[in-house]
Amino acid sequence: MVVKGSSKLDAGHLPLKLESGRLLFIDQRLLPDVLEYFDATSFGDLCFAIKEMVVRGAPSIGVAAAFGYAMEANRRALDTNYSPEFSHDDVTRVISQSKLDSLVVDQKLLSDLARIKSELDATRPTAVNLRWATDRMHSFCAALIAKRVNARQFVEATLDEADRVFDEHLKTNLALSTHGVAVVPPHAEIITHCNAGPLAVCGWGTALGVIRLAKMHGLEPSVYADETRPRNQGSKLTVWELMQDEIPVKLVCDNMSGYLMSQKKIDLVIVGADRIAANGDTANKIGTYNLAIIAKHHGVPFYVAAPLSTFDRSISNGSEIPIEVRDQAEITTINGIPIAPSGAQALNPAFDITPSNLIAGIITEVGILRPPFEASIKEALAK
Ligand code: MRU
Repeated sequence: MVVKGSSKLDAGHLPLKLESGRLLFIDQRLLPDVLEYFDATSFGDLCFAIKEMVVRGAPSIGVAAAFGYAMEANRRALDTNYSPEFSHDDVTRVISQSKLDSLVVDQKLLSDLARIKSELDATRPTAVNLRWATDRMHSFCAALIAKRVNARQFVEATLDEADRVFDEHLKTNLALSTHGVAVVPPHAEIITHCNAGPLAVCGWGTALGVIRLAKMHGLEPSVYADETRPRNQGSKLTVWELMQDEIPVKLVCDNMSGYLMSQKKIDLVIVGADRIAANGDTANKIGTYNLAIIAKHHGVPFYVAAPLSTFDRSISNGSEIPIEVRDQAEITTINGIPIAPSGAQALNPAFDITPSNLIAGIITEVGILRPPFEASIKEALAK
């Protein structure tokens, strides 16, 4: 299907939906040409979808994992006739309705769930939202099992919890975006890197959410979108999302920001985040660090926009954040077509760390955190 534009400003395209008990993701690999859903109902397909970036962006990965965890937990809880392909509706159909009420969920399920959790956590190591979501689902299921609930209660409660995770993201992203408007001057020219729009975060956007809300407030922002090699989330997704919102956007290569800033064309930088350490050091898409250094050199304020679920209080600084290293083929080819000599070696770290001293503020759902970040982050997380 060819995608048509839309000018209305709402939560935007949501990355996933549950339909007839099946978990479906917008296949972000295919945009902007084709808007198609990928069926991630089986646990294997879910892990593939996260690893291969059918669904991507730290918060959306977290929500995807919450649903995936719930569906797999339900299949295992009813393990009479277990099949990894069963949808939620199939799962409740395979055993009689009366058995759903009389079957008490087995304590032994917890070790299965721990395995599900660690498999999910390993799919993408940098985005802490994934672990945040699986931690939450795991503790929730452990509490249900300890209460000796029956199968019906278990199945309904786990999916309700995943739904809550989804709903909370929508609310959080809107609150964050609304707070962020305060840093946007009228007619601001903003540069962003990668994609932190509705698809990446489950509604509204974070970095793009701030820009979208600024438009709603009549501030008339315009955007330079870094193309974001190697996966081109900027050219494929950010430009697509902003064009639908009728927000003026120009696509630029990742190496153009120095020139643009030297020409005084940029008023501020806003990016998303995959993990933020207790001192404010921020992991985001590779190339974010370069942008932050250039911004500092030119006195352009550099903002990070991220929900509190992106903060990792167990990590004191950025050097402890694991950096995902992806396949060399993402660098040496584009859409399967070689762009380097056959046999060329490449290096593909997917993220880098921007030290907190380059960051003017972190926009969250509880307000804009300012340096010194140790104190402001601690206070925000205590709320
Ligand atoms: O590898 P991706 O596309 O999942 O990386 C996405 C980013 O780096 C985003 O900027 C980040 O997840 C924040 S999304 C709000």
